[in-house]
Amino acid sequence: MYSKDEIINILSSNDDSILKTADEIRKQYVGEDVHLRGLIEFSNYCNRTCYYCGLRYENKNIQRYRLTPEDIIATAKYAKNIGLKTIVLQAGEDVCFSNNILCNIIEQIKKLDVALTLSIGEKTYDEYKSFKDAGVDRYLLRIETTDKTLYNALHPNMSFENRIECLYNLKSLGFETGTGSLVGLPNQTIESLANDILFFKTLDADMIGIGPFIPHPCTPLGDSDVDLKKNFDLSIKVMAITRILLKNINIPATTAMETLNPNGQIIALQSGANVIMPNITNDECKKKYTIYPNKQNQDIILAKEKIYSIGRAISVNKGFRSK
Ligand code: 5AD
Repeated sequence: MYSKDEIINILSSNDDSILKTADEIRKQYVGEDVHLRGLIEFSNYCNRTCYYCGLRYENKNIQRYRLTPEDIIATAKYAKNIGLKTIVLQAGEDVCFSNNILCNIIEQIKKLDVALTLSIGEKTYDEYKSFKDAGVDRYLLRIETTDKTLYNALHPNMSFENRIECLYNLKSLGFETGTGSLVGLPNQTIESLANDILFFKTLDADMIGIGPFIPHPCTPLGDSDVDLKKNFDLSIKVMAITRILLKNINIPATTAMETLNPNGQIIALQSGANVIMPNITNDECKKKYTIYPNKQNQDIILAKEKIYSIGRAISVNKGFRSK
């Protein structure tokens, strides 16, 4: 277990031997299999105004779409047919998907004998419970940053405390719970990144997604002066330390990493990651899910080629956290 000071030292130094250590821990605790999770981005409507995100409702420069329940279920069936064992349903916080509609979709998808992950933001305890009762296995809700001042500055009309409460609610309801953070936000300190990692450990998160911050021109952070290479390198390091501390959890090679570095996915898979989330949303819609510019949607065939090219295998099971 690293102390906070040790984590700060690792993140501040130029030494990246930590990546190799993370790769070894990954191999020891979760093996050579990479889990593929089929991602369906079913709506880019959002009633939040997060300062970094292109889906924020104040962005009028985006064509909005929402898939019908029939489209979503058909895409899930396609995923099942091509051998995917997990479906991830992700969307902006779109009020048009009522709990009833969502639970119906969930029940239909669960008939396919796949694991199901939801990633649709902050909900009440009762809403989360209804998803659990309908069969959802996992839930992703990034904390984004544990620096409360920064969190509040980036998330108008939201509360840091509520986000934490949502995560503990998800845990207590028995979801495999995923969280994670952005790396390289303006005004984010190395100390706060160390706190993020320690928070993942305290929560005992089952999945952690880490991504470099990429400025989106149509957001208040659009002209932030960030060093994208630095954000990439730092995000890989944060991920590696997370692997070393949490050991047997599931960690994706994220799309944002792949967006900043053509080899990003492979570097991530060799620095602690063991999951890839290919985007199986139809082409027309996924182009419009512009959280940040140039998003490199992960293609399933290319993902498989990359996995084989580094001597890893594709998992044949649902890929729950190994106990
Ligand atoms: N750069 C990188 N990641 C972003 N996200 C949102 N906006 C950006 C951005 N500009 C991430 C958030 C969110 C996830 C779905 O996408 O961490 O949780």
